[in-house]
Amino acid sequence: MYTHSDLKEVVDRALVNLSYNTEAPKLIDPVKYVLSKGGKRLRPVMALMSCNLFTDKIDDAILPAAGLEVFHNFTLVHDDIMDKAPVRRGLPTVHNKWNENQAILSGDVMAFIANECILQAPSSCLLRVFRVFNKAAVEVCVGQQLDMDFEKAAIVRECEYLRMIELKTAVLLASSVKIGAIIGGAEEKDSDLLYEFGKNLGLAFQIQDDMLDVWGDVKVFGKTSGGDIVANKKTLPLVKALELAKGSKLKELQKLISGSTINPDEKISRVKAIFEELDIKDITEILAYDYINKAFGFLQKVNVDESRKKEMTNLAISLIGRKQ
Ligand code: IPE
Ligand code: IPE
Ligand code: MG
Ligand code: MG
Ligand code: MG
Repeated sequence: MYTHSDLKEVVDRALVNLSYNTEAPKLIDPVKYVLSKGGKRLRPVMALMSCNLFTDKIDDAILPAAGLEVFHNFTLVHDDIMDKAPVRRGLPTVHNKWNENQAILSGDVMAFIANECILQAPSSCLLRVFRVFNKAAVEVCVGQQLDMDFEKAAIVRECEYLRMIELKTAVLLASSVKIGAIIGGAEEKDSDLLYEFGKNLGLAFQIQDDMLDVWGDVKVFGKTSGGDIVANKKTLPLVKALELAKGSKLKELQKLISGSTINPDEKISRVKAIFEELDIKDITEILAYDYINKAFGFLQKVNVDESRKKEMTNLAISLIGRKQ
């Protein structure tokens, strides 16, 4: 069995060894920049771990797993334009370091490089793998659209928020574990259970990301703090605060997010103060843990020996209270 750190190394090596069409080097410079500047590699590591549940031979899954990471990084490059984010992984984002047009085009080519990697799945399961991947790719776009639409919405219900994060974040984690399982030769029932495991972990993961945007340590998290508050993102903290605030507190919160011309730092500190008065941090944290627990329930049902699930279980545990 491979450990988490073995698999991260395998993924990093596969990414470094990717070959590119270098006829226009300016197109590829940002691609190499993004792929070489860290990241947890969660999706490809989970894909390989999932494959490793069913077989010791994970080689066939390495390039498709790398493709999942390239696709993820493509979404980040475009997401950072949409979210006007200046920093990621502690470094300038692509549109900040180069410019927006460059980030659009280098992002685009990453999506196609990702396809090329996924297409390296064994021919016996290629069609199934590509369908799972492509469905997730479309769903990520739908989720990102809802994320943008919700910036303008006065009220977003918790169930609407959950559907939005399921699409923009959870389905890619879910598909990653499912793809790994398919390549590993899993029965359909098990690959479906693993999809649900990944989806619930993904929901927890995005809820935590929303929390880290407010309460994270910028140096560890690697992204600027309070960006979601400034952009009126309907994160779980804000959705919950709008649900729980009453009277003058609700009015103040509504005014703060109504597009009034308040200075961004002041907006962040006033919204955070309301979150604190309403215990939003604890409430959202509990919800994230509920989803991690739900994820464990699906992993338990997967029909492989418990001893083979140790790494995957540890990975899920390591996400509890993550800081990065
Ligand atoms: C960031 O994903 C985008 C979200 C879905 C929250 P990660 O937190 O996995 O980012 P990296 O790849 O480790 O930087
Ligand atoms: C990420 O959502 C979702 C995708 C990139 C598809 P966020 O906008 O919250 O991610 P970060 O915080 O910028 O990484
Ligand atoms: Mg975003
Ligand atoms: Mg973002
Ligand atoms: Mg975020």
